[in-house]
Amino acid sequence: IFAAVEMAPRDPILGITEAFNADSRTHKVNLGVGVYYDDNGKLPLLAAVKAAEKARLDAMPARGYQPIEGLAAYNQAVQNLVFGKDSPLLANGQVITIEALGGTGALKIGADYLKRLVPGAKVYISDPSWENHRALFESAGFEVGTYAYYDAATRGVNFAAMKASLNAMAPNAVVVLHACCHNPTGADLTDAQWQEVVQIIKAKNLIAFIDMAYQGFAEGIDADAVALKLFAASGLQYFVSSSFSKSFSLYGERVGALSIVTASKEESARVLSQVKRVVRTNYSNPPTHGGAIVAAVLSSPELRQQWEDELAGMRERIRAMRIALVEKLKAHGHDFAFVAQQRGMFSYTGLTAQQVERLKDEFGIYAVSTGRICLAALNTRNIDHVADAIAQVLKA
Ligand code: LMR
Repeated sequence: IFAAVEMAPRDPILGITEAFNADSRTHKVNLGVGVYYDDNGKLPLLAAVKAAEKARLDAMPARGYQPIEGLAAYNQAVQNLVFGKDSPLLANGQVITIEALGGTGALKIGADYLKRLVPGAKVYISDPSWENHRALFESAGFEVGTYAYYDAATRGVNFAAMKASLNAMAPNAVVVLHACCHNPTGADLTDAQWQEVVQIIKAKNLIAFIDMAYQGFAEGIDADAVALKLFAASGLQYFVSSSFSKSFSLYGERVGALSIVTASKEESARVLSQVKRVVRTNYSNPPTHGGAIVAAVLSSPELRQQWEDELAGMRERIRAMRIALVEKLKAHGHDFAFVAQQRGMFSYTGLTAQQVERLKDEFGIYAVSTGRICLAALNTRNIDHVADAIAQVLKA
């Protein structure tokens, strides 16, 4: 039965990690995947997470099945974080949240549910977007198009073109938006632009699906939720996927959530019942550990503060690496000032696929072929090597 099976291409992001792991060069650097490493190049285990895990280990809880929608305390904690605990949407019972397998799992459950809800709708992702967005919505059965977003000339958002794209969409089109720290470009909308986006989505009867994988990596938990606050005030119904892979450094635990804002508590009950069917036929119910840890951290004032401090530390270190890279490239005669303007883990460097290939072959530096690099993998030991290598491949 497998005789005619063709070899699938490597994943554009995780495939880089596979190639990186197989590379025996000691000075190799993986700027491909969006993962935060500390200044020693190590994946951190946050102290707040460690404390919550220790308490959980001491309690030695049994491992029964979770509810289909996951741990209630976790879902509540996610809602408070994403929507703000005093949000009228929460008081009105207008938000349902299910624990999902990472941000990707949340997107997929949302996509599968949307396919049942609006089967003929088209999905639009930003141009460019996270590599997996298109594949994920296509695998849910949707036709996927793009809306104008990045402007290579200004290294920012072409907002006029973005608005024109949104205005041209048919009613019920699904628009995938990045709440903050746009992946892959690092170019975000301003608060005023978000306001306009919300207005167009409302006027055109579009369905927003807000992907929030980097809350806390631009300016902070609250400041990074601006888009969410504007949507909350709009009276619209929409989808939000959250991820705690990066903000809790819990990548392998697959901790994420899907939230859906409905028009009423009664509607919420019906929508939740349908989403639970999607979960049940995919993986039945989520695992116990990661969600319990995130819930424990978010619901303890001390651990929550410790976590926010650690998150701020990650954010500030990435920022310092952005500034350092700009300075080092400037010393080589290159103006990369835009890197310091972009937010989150990524920068769209403008390096061509060929230059990225040279970085790998000649210098052991791995990046996404689109020129996206992850600044969170830079540190004081490898940044000179990276800056020198970029300068080398920029030479004609
Ligand atoms: C990335 O964009 O590198 C991260 O979101 C990791 C992933 O799953 O692709």
